[in-house]
Amino acid sequence: MLARLVVTFMSSAYSADRKDATILLSHELGIPYHRLFLDIDIIDVSDGSLKRLHNQMERLASGEPLSKIIQKKEFYGIEFCTNGYTLDPRPETELIVDLVKAHYRDFSKHLAILDLGSGTGCIGLSLLTMYKNSVCSFVDIEGQALDVAITNATQLGLRARCRFILSDWFANVAETFDIIVCNPPYVSTTFALDRSAQFDPQTALFAGVEGMDAYLAILPQIGEFLNHNGKAFIEIGFDQSEKFMNIDHGLETIGIERDLNGIQRVVILGKLK
Ligand SMILES: C[S@@+](CC[C@H](N)C(=O)[O-])C[C@H]1O[C@@H](n2cnc3c(N)ncnc32)[C@H](O)[C@@H]1O
Repeated sequence: MLARLVVTFMSSAYSADRKDATILLSHELGIPYHRLFLDIDIIDVSDGSLKRLHNQMERLASGEPLSKIIQKKEFYGIEFCTNGYTLDPRPETELIVDLVKAHYRDFSKHLAILDLGSGTGCIGLSLLTMYKNSVCSFVDIEGQALDVAITNATQLGLRARCRFILSDWFANVAETFDIIVCNPPYVSTTFALDRSAQFDPQTALFAGVEGMDAYLAILPQIGEFLNHNGKAFIEIGFDQSEKFMNIDHGLETIGIERDLNGIQRVVILGKLK
C-alpha cells in the first residue's frame, strides 16, 4: 500500500494525529520523516510493516507516548535514544542547562561535570556539546540506563569526554567536580501519575512518601564532591522548595530558579567560602 494511504487510513482508524502516524511510519521504514513526507506518494509499505504499524497505533491509542514507542525524545534541540529503563527527558529540565550556561559563560573552560542520576545522559551530554573542553561523569543506579547514555554519547561524538559509573548516588564516585547537575526522582509514592508518566520507570520517578528520599540521600554528601567554587544545580518538584531548604546540606543557597510556568524548579547550591 502507498505510504499516503497508510497514513490516512491509520490516522482515521485510530483517531490519531496524521503527524504521529507519519512519524511512526518513518520509524518503521527507517526513512527520515522529511524524506518520507516528500516521497509519500511513491513509497510502498509492505504487509509486515503494516502489521507492526497497526500494533504501534494501538499502543498510541491506549495512551502510550509516541516517544516511548519510537524510543527517541528531543531535549535541548538534540534527539536522544531512550529505553524502558530511562525517563523520557522533560522540557522543564532544560532549565538546568540554561542555568549552567548563565553561570559559566566561558565555553572554552575545562570543567569537570557530574550528571547524577543521568538516565539518557541528556543534561550532561547537552552541556558537553557546548563546553567543548569539558568532561562529564554520568552516574546511574540502573545499568541499562547507563547503556543508553553510552549510546547517546557515542552517537553525538562525545564518548571520549565521558565516564559512566554504575553507582547508588555517590557510593562509587571517587573524584570531585566543578559542576554537579542532578534531576533525581522526586515524586511521592502516593501521587497519582498521569497516563503518559505511567510508562516511565519507577526508579526514575518515585522517592518515598514525601518524594524527598533522593534529596535526603544526596544533599548531605554534595559538598564533599564539589571543587572549591563548585556549584550544584538540582531539580525539584513544584511544592518541594521549602522541604528541600530544611535539609541540612551545609552549602550556600545561590538561588532557586523558576521554570517557564513560574514554578520553582532548580536550586543552585555552592560551596561555603
Ligand atoms: C528523574 S530521572 C532523571 C534522568 C535524567 N537526568 C533526566 O533529567 O532526564 C532520575 C534518574 O536517577 C536514577 N536513580 C534513581 N535512584 C538512583 C540512585 N540511588 N543512584 C543513582 N541513580 C539513581 C534513575 O535510574 C533515573 O535515571
